[in-house]
Amino acid sequence: MARILVTQRLIDGGLARLGSSDHEIVALEQPGPLPTAALARAASDVDGILCLLSDRIDQQILSLPRLSVVANVAVGIDNIDLAAARAHNVAVVNTPGVLDASTADLAILLMLAARRRSSEAEADLRAGRWTGWSLGDHLGDDLSGATVGLVGRGRIGQAVERRLRGFDATVLHHTRHDTGLEGWHGSLHELAAEVDVLSVHVPLTVETRALIDRSVLAVMRPSAVLVNTARGPVVEEAALIDALTSGTIAAAGLDVFEREPEVSTALLAAPGTVLLPHVGSATTATRLAMCDLASKGLLAILDGELPENVVS
Ligand code: GLV
Repeated sequence: MARILVTQRLIDGGLARLGSSDHEIVALEQPGPLPTAALARAASDVDGILCLLSDRIDQQILSLPRLSVVANVAVGIDNIDLAAARAHNVAVVNTPGVLDASTADLAILLMLAARRRSSEAEADLRAGRWTGWSLGDHLGDDLSGATVGLVGRGRIGQAVERRLRGFDATVLHHTRHDTGLEGWHGSLHELAAEVDVLSVHVPLTVETRALIDRSVLAVMRPSAVLVNTARGPVVEEAALIDALTSGTIAAAGLDVFEREPEVSTALLAAPGTVLLPHVGSATTATRLAMCDLASKGLLAILDGELPENVVS
């Protein structure tokens, strides 16, 4: 029998698979991440950890002698020091596939909200500033027929592309390697200059940190919007705030931020922003599927198997 630490409170039903295993489950019930030292103490005698993306799983945790697997209830794994995991022979599993639809839906929601200025319109209504229908109030731009540039074209990017077909959008993409598909742009700057919406769908890595920097924002159209449902640090936030404030671009729909859960006051004050608290995968069905897939991978590793969702 192995011992498994669950680092934070999950949702109802989230522990189903682990709970019905033969292993001992130590489920911490606090609603947020523990500081590293406290997490290391809690994990000192476990074989597996089921964690959330807000947990930092670093060298101190990964070097614990008994630990053999970390299962992240997320597809992004930038909260885990993969080099340390490799060095200490700790397997890492994540949740690919099960959150593609929910995250793609949210990217479309942000594209629509940013293009149609719905947050601003709703704020006006709620504040009693709506005094009657007017031809010229709250004018935005259509997503229908727009040109959308996807930065990254993995599973989530492709799910976004499928949805955009229903909007008669022209969908282009930038990836490092030539996809051989129509719409591929080897130059991110050329893509950025051509589109009405630039939407980010890459994981956070050393290569993608600040990929959308000042120089990319500078070539975008003044009417264009930036959408980020991937990871905050892929976008240089200070440059984005400047771009919105100066009118270099029109709007931004963001579900992720550079220093979550902090959202800078400058970003909150910037015009044309639709801001959500990292809810891309936040539907009950998807979050349950994520808990289940991470648990399944963790149990497989403990059983000496190599599950499909092993990352490292
Ligand atoms: C959510 O952001 C995830 O990586 O699963």
